[in-house]
Amino acid sequence: MFQPTYPIRTARLTLRPVTIDDLDDVYAFQRRPDVVRWMLGAEPRTREQSRVSVLAMAGEDAWRAEGDCLTVAVVTDAGVIGIVELVWRSRLERTAELGFVFHPDHCGRGLATEAATAVLDWGFTEFGLHRVYGRCHCRNTPSARLMARLGMRQEARHVESYLFKGEWADQLVFAILAREWPAGTSTSHGGMRR
Ligand SMILES: CC(C)(COP(=O)(O)OP(=O)(O)OC[C@H]1O[C@@H](n2cnc3c(N)ncnc32)[C@H](O)[C@@H]1OP(=O)(O)O)[C@@H](O)C(=O)NCCC(=O)NCCS
Repeated sequence: MFQPTYPIRTARLTLRPVTIDDLDDVYAFQRRPDVVRWMLGAEPRTREQSRVSVLAMAGEDAWRAEGDCLTVAVVTDAGVIGIVELVWRSRLERTAELGFVFHPDHCGRGLATEAATAVLDWGFTEFGLHRVYGRCHCRNTPSARLMARLGMRQEARHVESYLFKGEWADQLVFAILAREWPAGTSTSHGGMRR
């Protein structure tokens, strides 16, 4: 089993596993059309759908096998303001995929960048990933800008590669390698637990 030593602390944030007590905070952003607008397959959630989602995320506290998702709640004095996830896509190639969703009330302050940096830092510095990639709809400008801010390069634009709400959509692919990652910049977490 691989997991960060929780909580991960950054200058402004605490990152820790999701719990069912986070339901109100998570529902507050999962219910919003503007949050799910560019997310594949995502519709604004009902409270019951959020409860199912939070219960699933609560089990995603570690990587136990290839394919697992590590999900952390991003916490401030205002509660859970977003989530960051890292999916273990390949054991052999030491590759993971990054994802993030934040409440719009807390966007525009660099908090998503700060949280994602901490998670990437664990992935590269503690776990030993080789490569992390992220994907987004070509019109999801905040997501693309966030990945660029993290130092990820745009490696592809897959033209009309998937159906999004019934229409062909272009998907952007961003990635960063371990040797490109500035080590140990943001967090005060300890080592990895196996
Ligand atoms: C993607 C998402 C997390 C980005 O949020 P964000 O607020 O733009 O990202 P950050 O918190 O890193 O803030 C960055 C913004 O704050 C500004 N900022 C202010 N202070 C900052 C600081 N100290 N450090 C970095 N940026 C700062 C930046 O300039 C940037 O604004 P800009 O893009 O207009 O230049 C958010 O839009 C979201 O949750 N979207 C909905 C879900 C979604 O689509 N997820 C991705 C699916 S692929």
